[in-house]
Amino acid sequence: MLRFKSIISRIVILHVVAVVITSIFMSLALSWLLSYATDNIHNKAMQEQAVAVAEHLTARPDGNLELNLPLDLLGLYSQPYGRYSYAVIDDRGRVLFSSLTDHVALFPSDAETGDVEFLQNRRGDATVSGASIRKTVGDKTVWIQAGEDLANRDVLIDDIVADFYRNVGWITLPILLVLLAADIAIFRRALRPLRQASEIASQIGPTRTGLRLPTEEIPREVRPLVSAVNHALDRLEEGFRIQRDFTADAAHELRTPLSILRTRLDILEDEQVGRALRQDVEGMANIISQLLDIAELDAFVVDPAEKADLRAVTAEIAEFVAPLALAQGKDIALLGEVDPVWVKGNPEMLGRAIRNLADNAINHTAPGTTVEFVVEENGTVSIFDQGPGVAEDERKLIFQRFWRRDRNKAGSTGLGLSIVQRIVELHSATITVENRLTRGAQFSIRFLAAGDATGKASGE
Ligand SMILES: Nc1ncnc2c1ncn2[C@@H]1O[C@H](COP(=O)(O)OP(=O)(O)OP(=O)(O)O)[C@@H](O)[C@H]1O
Ligand SMILES: [Mg+2]
Repeated sequence: MLRFKSIISRIVILHVVAVVITSIFMSLALSWLLSYATDNIHNKAMQEQAVAVAEHLTARPDGNLELNLPLDLLGLYSQPYGRYSYAVIDDRGRVLFSSLTDHVALFPSDAETGDVEFLQNRRGDATVSGASIRKTVGDKTVWIQAGEDLANRDVLIDDIVADFYRNVGWITLPILLVLLAADIAIFRRALRPLRQASEIASQIGPTRTGLRLPTEEIPREVRPLVSAVNHALDRLEEGFRIQRDFTADAAHELRTPLSILRTRLDILEDEQVGRALRQDVEGMANIISQLLDIAELDAFVVDPAEKADLRAVTAEIAEFVAPLALAQGKDIALLGEVDPVWVKGNPEMLGRAIRNLADNAINHTAPGTTVEFVVEENGTVSIFDQGPGVAEDERKLIFQRFWRRDRNKAGSTGLGLSIVQRIVELHSATITVENRLTRGAQFSIRFLAAGDATGKASGE
């Protein structure tokens, strides 16, 4: 058995086979019905002719029969015309009357048993077809035969039957092809919800576990499969949730011992040891807050209607990190747009991404350098620094969780850029890393522009 990958192609192939078979059978059946109907008409006409002849059959006083056909009937059966003929036969098979010149019966008498018989007989090249009826005239039983030479038969009816395929039979093929086209259209329509469901399914991933396939418009036959997939997704989402919750809970639980540690360090006698330990504790606190951010981001969904003023968010972060930068001997500069730049996204998440980039620009550069924040009208925020930059072969690595160039660097967990990337993904934004022509790195995120308060689209 052939296997078809597509249901549509299966339908087309099987339908074509059905169309061919049906059109053959339909034409055969129709032509048979037509010829049956014409035969019936013919038989009836012949029976009527035999009855008409029988009406003019009378018994003479001497017992013999007499046939006095009126003129119109004589014309009908005249030999020059040759189409119709009649004969009257008695019960011993003798021909009493016949319109044929050689005075013979149309059909052999032994074939006649019932009241009415429809018979066919060959006479020379001609085929005579007609009826034979029984009648009792006086005390004699006779058979009146009436027949038609088929070679002379009504041309119109013959043509219809003979040309049936050419004239009528072909119509079945286009009709069935139209049906086929209709079937394909109906099927495509029925499959459309499945295509839509597949589109949704293709969007489901570890970061989007909340999506479910729609079941309302799915054909009943496929619905069990779709429901089963949805239930499987429910279970997967639950598994993901448990894992996320664990990360969040663990990070959360670590906060308490950490703050206890902080207070204990404060009362430590040895100032120098205290300062060193406090730095370690801050490093741990950093890891924990990054882990909490990651756990939160895993479950975070951006409201598509939400928008943020990228300029305001950037300015706020610049202001926030300025004291940290100054403490490390670095300058902060905020450049670019001065008017609001509206982008699609959650202001809090945007801030976290910029904050991480800012932290990097401050933490991974030498003192005496400047960190620049530039916001452009098209929804791009760039952070420029004057540090070592990021080598070409590291530009993918830096976004991996826990990757850092210097594993011994205190307070460096390697989670910051993975958080940035996740926020970028959530906002359908793009991030690029480049080295500046002079010195240092440039990290740019381009967000989708949102309509501003007046409804005018910003950017581009
Ligand atoms: N502006 C930059 N200039 C040079 N190297 C950078 C810069 N930003 C990041 N890097 C490199 O990429 C690594 C990964 O950065 P990422 O922000 O992910 O982690 P981190 O800064 O080490 O730790 P944290 O989780 O605290 O952010 C850094 O350790 C650093 O080596
Ligand atoms: Mg970082």
